[in-house]
Amino acid sequence: MSADELKRQAAARALELVRPGMRLGLGTGSTAKHFVDLLGRRVAEGLDVLCVATSEATQAQAVSLNIPMSTLDETPALDLTVDGADEIDPQLRLIKGGGAALLREKIVAAASARMVVIADDGKLVPTLGRFPLPIEVVPFGLEATRRAVATAIAASGAAGDIALRRRPDGGPLVTDGGHFILDARLGAIERPELLAQALNMVPGVVEHGLFIGLASGAILAGAGGLRLLGR
Ligand code: A5P
Repeated sequence: MSADELKRQAAARALELVRPGMRLGLGTGSTAKHFVDLLGRRVAEGLDVLCVATSEATQAQAVSLNIPMSTLDETPALDLTVDGADEIDPQLRLIKGGGAALLREKIVAAASARMVVIADDGKLVPTLGRFPLPIEVVPFGLEATRRAVATAIAASGAAGDIALRRRPDGGPLVTDGGHFILDARLGAIERPELLAQALNMVPGVVEHGLFIGLASGAILAGAGGLRLLGR
């Protein structure tokens, strides 16, 4: 079974959590895209939901499917957010931001009573950090911020290269919020809470891809079937 089919299976299982009248957060990435596709079909059949997107890409997809959309200003409390992840550990700590949407993803997840991660089971890891950690920064003072990020990483006991994420044409990738992304290749993050706290203290860091205490459950699809973590 292809990874894409596994992602779709996880998305289909998450759709079973949706009830009429729910206010939903819609994630970003290839797995969340399946969820939005399937949700669009249910909406076409008459399902009543109101949704907030975590990126311009997801917003455009949802609008194209006629899914009723809102904003966190109009709808500041959500019932459920369904989103993908780049890595998931057994304590439901995540690395997110491979698709550069981490800032809005974290704001939407924090505004949700429940966040459920959907993924193929290859994303489940014993220790976070094999996937480079995305760190969203303001363009002003980039080099100074990069050095401060390196110091924060070292203070948390981790180490690794930090690279500015670039577009295919070589220019810096710019997020939906107008920021840049630094990707930190750390290999293993033994103390994610400590690293998250250290990064939160760096001026110029807008957000980072460590999602701790936000996911309440995960639906992982593998060759052997679906595996559910949390609730
Ligand atoms: C977007 O910024 C990310 O957090 C995605 O949710 C994450 O990269 C998972 O994407 P895929 O579902 O495409 O693997």
